[in-house]
Amino acid sequence: MSLKDSCAPALRRYPLAIIGAGALGLSFAARLAASMQVAVVARSAARAGQLRAGVMVGDARFQADAHAPDALPEADWVIVLVKAADTADAGRLAAAMRPLGVLSLQNGLTGEALRDAVHASWPGEDSPPPQVEQGITTEGAFRDGDRVTPSGAGDTLLPPGFEAVAELLSRAGFRARVEPDIAAARLAKLLVNLAINPLAALFRVPNGALCEPPYRVHLDALVREAWPVLHAEGLALDEAAAHARVVAVARATGANRASMLQDVIAGRRTEIDAITGVFLDMAARHGAEVPTHHAVFTLVKQIEAG
Ligand SMILES: NC(=O)c1ccc[n+]([C@@H]2O[C@H](COP(=O)([O-])OP(=O)(O)OC[C@H]3O[C@@H](n4cnc5c(N)ncnc54)[C@H](OP(=O)(O)O)[C@@H]3O)[C@@H](O)[C@H]2O)c1
Repeated sequence: MSLKDSCAPALRRYPLAIIGAGALGLSFAARLAASMQVAVVARSAARAGQLRAGVMVGDARFQADAHAPDALPEADWVIVLVKAADTADAGRLAAAMRPLGVLSLQNGLTGEALRDAVHASWPGEDSPPPQVEQGITTEGAFRDGDRVTPSGAGDTLLPPGFEAVAELLSRAGFRARVEPDIAAARLAKLLVNLAINPLAALFRVPNGALCEPPYRVHLDALVREAWPVLHAEGLALDEAAAHARVVAVARATGANRASMLQDVIAGRRTEIDAITGVFLDMAARHGAEVPTHHAVFTLVKQIEAG
């Protein structure tokens, strides 16, 4: 964070805003703030005040241009980085910022819920509601108390129509581009999340352990059941490539604790509804039997309830 940025006056309309000042939201905002003014929307006025005073992101103190939900500026583009269960709230806030487009980079499939929330709250009778779409990112970050630690660079794929956002991200050093077949890319990410997240949370092991006995048989079962459904929905991987993709990601992130495992350990609500829950609805539409996914869904819900 440069002196220039920390002293920059609040704008009435920002080129970009991020809703969700958590691990990934602050990690994105801190990097973007080096090349532009970016608004950060916090959950409360108190939290916005803390963020304006400064939080550690990586090795640097980041004084976010933070705003409370009841004092929102306008923004051309809004990126949503709240957990899936908070999507509807974020959609209402995004609509109030009168953007040209709203982009989710959340895990799970949240695009439809976000679109519904934005459009239901759209205040502009004189202008059409914004484009609301979901991209994907393999950027990583985690929170330890108040400190955010970026945990490795990744790729960010955006839907057509979000070229301007790809440009802003690229200028800030992100590997970001528009992906013409974003639906297939979302399904590939969903496949990985469907296989790794619930198992890591249930067995409380890091990702890499899922590739070995005694967990591997369950990983393989989840991919075997998921593939026909996701393929029918537009997944552009054959079955062997789907298995290989999941195993490659689990190995490449071998020491990491999946976000669902972190949520379970912290006693937080998980994103199981937006990941396995959405998939179960999809499978039902296709008349597909997916017993292992039903089992992991029930088990994770029981942990949440307990
Ligand atoms: N972290 C990663 O490495 C990673 C990688 C890829 C994708 N993702 C996805 O990105 C999304 C965010 O993940 P995360 O790890 O950054 O989660 P996180 O650390 O829990 O951050 C979410 C933030 O959203 C805030 N929030 C919730 N409701 C809000 C509202 N109505 N208005 C404003 N702020 C609100 C939360 O505030 P409080 O702190 O007050 O609760 C929290 O700070 C998830 O869908 C996740 O799956 C994460």
